[in-house]
This record gives sequence, C-alpha cells and structure tokens, in this order.
Amino acid sequence: MKVRESGMPDQRVWESFFDPAIILAKLALTSACRDVVEMGCGYGTFTTDAARVVRGSVYALDIDESILQLAKAKTRAAGLTNVEFRLQDFLQDGTGLADGSVDYVMLFNILHTEDPVALLREAYRNLTVNGKAGVIHWNHDPKTPRGPPMAIRPRPADCVNWAKDAGFDCSSIHDLPPYHYGFVLTRLG
Ligand SMILES: C[S@@+](CC[C@H](N)C(=O)[O-])C[C@H]1O[C@@H](n2cnc3c(N)ncnc32)[C@H](O)[C@@H]1O
Repeated sequence: MKVRESGMPDQRVWESFFDPAIILAKLALTSACRDVVEMGCGYGTFTTDAARVVRGSVYALDIDESILQLAKAKTRAAGLTNVEFRLQDFLQDGTGLADGSVDYVMLFNILHTEDPVALLREAYRNLTVNGKAGVIHWNHDPKTPRGPPMAIRPRPADCVNWAKDAGFDCSSIHDLPPYHYGFVLTRLG
C-alpha cells in the first residue's frame, strides 16, 4: 500500500528542492556507516550521495517500479555499484532486512504516512545499537512549493513524539533550507 500523498512532480523539479550532500552531512551520514536502508527512495535524489559516503551498500526500497528504474539510471550514470534497488512495500512487508542489520535508515519525506510510529519501529528494528535514522520533512508552512496537504503534514514536534514512542533518542531540529527540517534519531539500546 502506497503512503498517502506520496507522489512527486517531475524529477528535475523535485531535485531542485534539495542539496542532498549538505542534508546528509547535517544528518550524520558519514563514512563510519556501513550499510544503509532508504525507505522510499523515489528518484534516487538522496541515494546517490548516500552511496558515495557509506562504506557498504545502500538498500534503496520503493513500491514503484518505474521510479526505481529512474533511480537506477541515476546511480549508474554516477558510476556507483554499491546500491541495491528493491521493489518492496515497506508498509505491508517491512524492509525485508534482518534485525540490527544497518547503521543508518533514511526516512525522507515519508513520515506523513498513516502510522508513522509503525514505520519508525520498523526503522528501529533494522538498526544496530547506536545506529541512526535521518528524518526530513517539508516545513509546516503552506507556502512551500510542494509537500503533503497541511492537514496531514507533520510538525517537528509530531516527529519527535513519534520517534520517542518508537524507542528513539532524538536530536534537536535541523533547519534544512529552503523548505525542510530534519532530525537525527539514535537507537540507544
Ligand atoms: C514523497 S516520495 C520521497 C522520495 C525520497 N525519499 C525523497 O525524499 O526524494 C515517496 C516515495 O516513497 C514511495 N513509497 C510510497 N509508499 C511506499 C511503500 N509502501 N513502500 C515502498 N515505497 C513507497 C513512493 O513511490 C515515492 O517514491
């Protein structure tokens, strides 16, 4: 089942909203990370930069085969070989990865799902102890050029509360201009 309101505009328009390398660095994705999973990789906007940084593989999951093909083409053009794309419905079936198998989970523009705590619990399950999850979302501001409807768009405080319910320790908010905010979540135990 697709996350509600998770469609995207044309790739070039979508990618004009972010500086992925800066966002990943602010959200503590470093070369200390080995394997990473990205839940809903979309066009691969963040996948390519993540694959450049980590020591292991990026498992890039999406429910949409046509989007996965675009993301694959992007990483291929960048000459990267450490991305494993998987057609996967993470709402219905989880990530398909073993418990404690990755050092970092990317949850980018996805927490407006119906049950964000369940998604965060799945991220938590996947992480090693001291592993991290990066969360970004659209600012809670109706003037952003895209983003889910305001009625379902999470506020930063919502994300913090959901993350705590799922067992995470949560960093302070990062401003990710021009249109986003983010957090780093840590699995402590
Ligand atoms: C709003 S886009 C964000 C893409 C990417 N995270 C980014 O920020 O550039 C959400 C993506 O999640 C995918 N998606 C939605 N529901 C999903 C599900 N249940 N399982 C896997 N992927 C899903 C969509 O196909 C879409 O590519």
